[in-house]
Amino acid sequence: MVIVLGIESSCDETAAALVRSDRTVLAQRIASQDEEHRPYGGVVPEIAARAHAEKIVPLVEGVLADAGMTLAGVDAIAATAGPGLIGGVMVGLVTGKALAMAADKPLIAVNHLEGHALSPRLADPGLEFPYLLLLVSGGHCQLLMVEGIGRFRRLATTIDDALGEAFDKTAKILGLGYPGGPAVERMAALGDAKAVSLPRPLLGSAEPHFSFAGLKSAVMRAKQAQPPVVAGCCGVGPVATGYSDADIAAAFQQAAIDCVLDRTSRAISRAEGATALVVAGGVAANKAIRSALEGLAAASGLRFVAPPLALCTDNAAMIGWAGVERLALGQSDPLDFAARPRWPLDPAAEPVRGAGVKA
Ligand code: KG4
Ligand code: ZN
Repeated sequence: MVIVLGIESSCDETAAALVRSDRTVLAQRIASQDEEHRPYGGVVPEIAARAHAEKIVPLVEGVLADAGMTLAGVDAIAATAGPGLIGGVMVGLVTGKALAMAADKPLIAVNHLEGHALSPRLADPGLEFPYLLLLVSGGHCQLLMVEGIGRFRRLATTIDDALGEAFDKTAKILGLGYPGGPAVERMAALGDAKAVSLPRPLLGSAEPHFSFAGLKSAVMRAKQAQPPVVAGCCGVGPVATGYSDADIAAAFQQAAIDCVLDRTSRAISRAEGATALVVAGGVAANKAIRSALEGLAAASGLRFVAPPLALCTDNAAMIGWAGVERLALGQSDPLDFAARPRWPLDPAAEPVRGAGVKA
């Protein structure tokens, strides 16, 4: 039985966790930076790096105290080494290196995306390789065959925006603030998806790639064209004629679901040998998307695995677990391992026509 200290700092959550190889999360703490970034409507890299630097050491001390342990009882230190905002990644990685050096423990430099990709195995001991993974977060939207630790075959990616990014932009357009995904999901539950007509980019196309830029622009146009709210009278409050913000949110979420189902079912037809359909990453916390995927898996004769909500958004337990998996294979990394702002899971995947900077 081994215990790994996981450290996460690639975006706007600073987190530490102690994970044991029997899948017990002994302790975990997470400090969100929502308050710091809210005034700007998105993550400001400089502010994020500074906040990580302030929070990381108290978080590590906190999880050790929670578990009643010292560093001496830890078998390895796993820190996110990319991809992500370079300032934040460096804070967590340097902290991990310093702890590894001071306590004379192995360092495991974890790919944040691999952390997401393996998180379902932390939650579900029965999940075997290979599985088809829909990885949907703020920066990534990919379909991958997960063939083993460090072994990924990318079947599809987004040619423009990530799905989480589209949720965040929709939230901004609707004035729902930051972070946007959960707010859009809550509002969508109150609306009528049929009240607004929105496009489904790439629906039916042969390759299982994604595109969300056109959907985001259509949300913007729907908001601009929204009929004004009419003042109420005779005891009736103000009435929205046409469609409401909740209708836009519901229509956006339904269009996103239709795209995800169509693209994923296309990938299923290429995922020979997959033991399960798995979803991970921040957007996997969306209950409507989870239940739509569950239906698709059932219709396709596949098991469906989705981690609990707290393991979907960024956290350190998934980084610690990736460390457990790598350590079991005898893998660790040198202390001069350089942070990687870009670090694709499948380096052999061809760049996709139309794709911008996203891996
Ligand atoms: O994995 P994650 O925490 O960070 C990245 O690695 O990007 O994902 C964050 C993304 C954000 O875009 C956020 O809006 C989205 O996940 N998200 C959601 C929900 N919760 C988080 N999107 C839709 N519905 C949700 N409930
Ligand atoms: Zn993430």
